[in-house]
Amino acid sequence: MKLTIVGTGYQGLVVGTCMAENGHQVTCLDRDETLIAHLNEGRMPIHEPGLEELVMRNMEEERLRFQVDLAEAVRDSMMVFICVGTQVDASGAVDLAEVEAAADQIADAMDGYRLIVLKSTCPPGTADQLIERIAARTEHPFDMVVNPDFMKEGAAIQDFMGPDRVVVGCDDIRVNEIMKELYSPFLRTGKPYLQMDRHSAEMVKYAVNVLLASRISIMNQMAELCSSYEADVSAVREGIAADERIGPHYLFPGLGFGGTGIPKDLATCIRMAQDKGLSHDLFEAVLEVNKRRQRHFLERILRYYGDAIVEKRIAVWGAAFKPRTDDIRGAPALAIIQGLLDAGAEVVVYDPACNRKIKEHFGDAVSVAPRYYHALEGADGLVIATEWNEFRRPDYARMASLMRESVIFDGRNLYTLDVMREHGFRYFSVGRPTAGGES
Ligand SMILES: NC(=O)c1ccc[n+]([C@@H]2O[C@H](COP(=O)([O-])OP(=O)(O)OC[C@H]3O[C@@H](n4cnc5c(N)ncnc54)[C@H](O)[C@@H]3O)[C@@H](O)[C@H]2O)c1
Repeated sequence: MKLTIVGTGYQGLVVGTCMAENGHQVTCLDRDETLIAHLNEGRMPIHEPGLEELVMRNMEEERLRFQVDLAEAVRDSMMVFICVGTQVDASGAVDLAEVEAAADQIADAMDGYRLIVLKSTCPPGTADQLIERIAARTEHPFDMVVNPDFMKEGAAIQDFMGPDRVVVGCDDIRVNEIMKELYSPFLRTGKPYLQMDRHSAEMVKYAVNVLLASRISIMNQMAELCSSYEADVSAVREGIAADERIGPHYLFPGLGFGGTGIPKDLATCIRMAQDKGLSHDLFEAVLEVNKRRQRHFLERILRYYGDAIVEKRIAVWGAAFKPRTDDIRGAPALAIIQGLLDAGAEVVVYDPACNRKIKEHFGDAVSVAPRYYHALEGADGLVIATEWNEFRRPDYARMASLMRESVIFDGRNLYTLDVMREHGFRYFSVGRPTAGGES
């Protein structure tokens, strides 16, 4: 089938590439000419495991192309996927301007029937509004389905190629059959294809992210409780995760959730509830606990150094909002780095994928290190903000020899307390006793 993807950001690039990998003829569009030029030169705009290889192969085999001309691509395709951004303001209101503009452009380009797939995350009712909007601009027939995405950055290809389920909001049997056929190669392992009404399909994405967020916030509060009762939250987590009713995922205490998905979707749920006069204080608490977690972590560091922070050089390992991505949007590390800078510390950051983005974000206020040990040279402390695998088993003796003071503030609980004691570190983590003595 010929498919057009409108919006070639994190989502659109993964969707388009995975569809091409399954044999479809895909055109990925973006209004950003530089982005499209880079992709046509084989330069990846994002760091996503396995993506580059798939993009290159499908470009070479002429199943995947990148362009800015929307009208030409829409005229050439039967299905058009909307994958543009949906920003959220401080009140949780979703800005649908990009989605509406994409719908208008698609409507204006149509020269016959099209199946339009809304993949951007939008509040319930958005697809209905877009249907009215498109119908007002074109006389050509079309259908619109809602098809939310559940992929995780850092494992997006894997998630898209082998999803836990595919959700399609659609009220037409014929269209549903087309969608089922489209996704059948991805569901060979027997995972469910779930057809439902459009509003429910739009809501599923929000519901999933609220649930995931609540697990993380509950674990972060549990971590505080563990600290107060001399329990180790890592052991407690293992005890919880073994319970089949709960399972192991999204139970890691730390710096809380970040990125663009979970925080924005949670904020939108709070706003949606307020708009309908519902009191959803549980959702609000989940968000508040998350903000507090990052604040408390920063306060712990600042309390440790006191006024002397202005003379301290602090190394930060990890800046991405999660490992295996270069996305720093909404990353907890940003708030922590900013807090350290505001307090007068010198900050040197190392992240395997986002050093460039950190430099763009903070300018000369921070320095970035080319290797992770380089960041530690002369450091008075190390903050671990992202759980990249390469940070998990470092050469502790080398770390200690490079640092001026052997103190680690680990926001991701990467090390065991015994190892930290053995190597003479003072080690602050989340929900576990401090190794090397409190202070
Ligand atoms: N990032 C993820 O992992 C993820 C996962 C699930 C759902 N989503 C949802 O997917 C949507 C897109 O997210 P993203 O992270 O890919 O955003 P993004 O900002 O990375 O990408 C959006 C792209 O759309 C382009 N664009 C906007 N309007 C356009 C237009 N009219 N024509 C052509 N291009 C246009 C922008 O230039 C940009 O490159 C959001 O609704 C998001 O909530 C994202």
